[in-house]
Amino acid sequence: MTNASIGSAWGAPAGEALPKVAYGKGIHVYDAAGKRYIDASGGPAVYCLGHANEEVNAAIAQQLARIAHGYRYTFTSDPLEQLRDLVVAACAPKLDQVIFLSGGSEAVESALKIALQYHSARGQMSRRRFIARRRSWHGNTLGALSVSDFLDRRAPFEGALLEASFVSAVNEYRPPAGVGSAQLSQYCVAELEEEILRQGSDSIAAFIFEPVVGAAGGVVPAPAGYAAGIREVCDRHGVLLIADEVMCGSGRCGTWRALEHDSVIPDIMAVAKGLGGGYLPLGATLYQRFVADAILAYGGRVLTGHTFTGHTTACAAGVAVQTIIKRDRLIERVRADGPVFLRMLREVLKPIEAVGDIRGRGFFVGIEFVANRATRQPFDPAAQLAHRIGRAAAHDGLLCYPSMGNVDGICGDTVILAPPYNTPLDQLREIAELFAHSVRRAADELDTSAATQSKS
Ligand SMILES: Cc1ncc(COP(=O)(O)O)c(C=O)c1O
Repeated sequence: MTNASIGSAWGAPAGEALPKVAYGKGIHVYDAAGKRYIDASGGPAVYCLGHANEEVNAAIAQQLARIAHGYRYTFTSDPLEQLRDLVVAACAPKLDQVIFLSGGSEAVESALKIALQYHSARGQMSRRRFIARRRSWHGNTLGALSVSDFLDRRAPFEGALLEASFVSAVNEYRPPAGVGSAQLSQYCVAELEEEILRQGSDSIAAFIFEPVVGAAGGVVPAPAGYAAGIREVCDRHGVLLIADEVMCGSGRCGTWRALEHDSVIPDIMAVAKGLGGGYLPLGATLYQRFVADAILAYGGRVLTGHTFTGHTTACAAGVAVQTIIKRDRLIERVRADGPVFLRMLREVLKPIEAVGDIRGRGFFVGIEFVANRATRQPFDPAAQLAHRIGRAAAHDGLLCYPSMGNVDGICGDTVILAPPYNTPLDQLREIAELFAHSVRRAADELDTSAATQSKS
């Protein structure tokens, strides 16, 4: 099967060929036909420094000229140690244990395994189950998929997944029936505790959640009080708290850890995407010392990782990316300019009837589309509005990240915008205006095709 035949981020219909990428520079990507795109999220919130950054490329080239890879059980390396120091400093004070991996699914997989090994080391072999949330995505490996709730991605593997149960998504725009905004945090925290008790707290290894939900929800931050509430519930029942910050972390939301916003520290955390900015495959699992101590006291070592764990050149890329972010104070910039970007988007999108909600944090924004603003009824999924918007935007020279299924796993159209952290305000404005133009075109196209169908 070719990549083209399985569709694309902007939903090229099956069989339609994808454009061939040729090169990039800063916020721009060029395809082989010479077309230029502004990259406002041509991948799932990955390219935090834009493309072809000369300093990052030079760091990679220098490392390759020395040695590409030193195997983790034979050598340590300067890039590995430097990246560990940078990441631990960014996550201070408690998340000081790190293992570097090759992406988000591996980072989540390691997080799940570390949780299981922690309980095994403490003689609590009954704690084997996970609790996760509806409308969440944690990755494509079997463990990560088991705690994910993207229905169509799970369906072919049902029956072969790890044991996990799901509590409600925490979404102010789409709260559980009968729950008002003001009660949402409290309701969802209580629901988690009920689920732990229903299963028996000595059977639960960990609760995993995205502090700001990415693709499965269309950028959904939880309301105030939620993160602190689940932290307390997990502590009360000896359940480890895993934060999946693969998409929302590494500065994307205006703090290095997304959960910093809530002053909450998880026991285990997964990061990826923005850690290496897409220059080379890179992810990491961080965990607290008490977790490591329990495993080490048992006489073991943390049983996770792969041949390319701590890959020397991938770590060198990560060091370069993180050094630039720190030196140029880009996270502070995301924090300051994020609300401005959100305001720009609200200004241009509000007049469009199909726009239901515009939400986000930092340079991580989700736009949800609805057939009826008053009832928040989603569009017919057959219309594929999110993907139509993605295609219209690509046609207009803008890359964004459409996703479907946020309402019930099938219905729901959202598009994510996640520009590089160094995007200046005038380009944020350009993204907002171009995006509004593409949304209008896609919505008009949908109206036209509905009118044609009703006539025929
Ligand atoms: C929140 C979250 N966790 C995990 C993953 C899996 O990461 P990867 O695709 O790098 O394996 C993703 C990917 O989109 C993600 O958004």
